[in-house]
Amino acid sequence: MSDAPPPLPTGLVPLISRAQIAERLKPLADEIRAAIPAEERPIAVIVLQGGFVFAADLLRQLPPDYPIGVAFLRCQSYGNEMYSSGKVLLLNDIDAEIDLRDRTVLLLDDILDTGHTLRFLADHFMRRGAAKVKLCVLLKRAANEGKAAIAADFAGFTIGSEFVVGYGLDHAGRYRNLPDLAAVK
Ligand code: IMP
Ligand code: MG
Repeated sequence: MSDAPPPLPTGLVPLISRAQIAERLKPLADEIRAAIPAEERPIAVIVLQGGFVFAADLLRQLPPDYPIGVAFLRCQSYGNEMYSSGKVLLLNDIDAEIDLRDRTVLLLDDILDTGHTLRFLADHFMRRGAAKVKLCVLLKRAANEGKAAIAADFAGFTIGSEFVVGYGLDHAGRYRNLPDLAAVK
């Protein structure tokens, strides 16, 4: 048996490998740990679907004694598939009984593109009574630096304008299961 990974589906080119991601997550977790003290009673809110793989790996790099809660929401930006309309739909919010008062919400998402999704969610959690909202994404786009609707507090990698799949990110519902990040040709 060969140790070579199986080839990528046709139409995809490698972008960032699982090894490069793994190497980046520890320093990213350390940055988060240093910036958000335990006293702020942080709660990680994972943006589904795209944020699930990133969040699972990142959260396991935080120190075992770091008291961070976990909650999930599901949202969708609708309109044209490649250009966000700026309208964001919250399909499922985090559980209604979670009290966010005096807590820091750490939003975890796959990619910050126009920033409309995370702007909407940050405003939503401030209205819900959070003391602070911090944003952490696996990817952000260089071209949108300073132009996006909101900036990330923590980011894994800065990428170009390519459409990315794998490691939780999809194209028309596919490729979320790829262990590495790839670009659509
Ligand atoms: P924003 O609201 O424009 O920042 O868009 C963020 C959302 O668009 C992300 O949470 C993704 O679901 C989706 N998205 C943007 N770019 C890509 C990409 O290259 N691949 C997969 N999804 C993307
Ligand atoms: Mg998403």
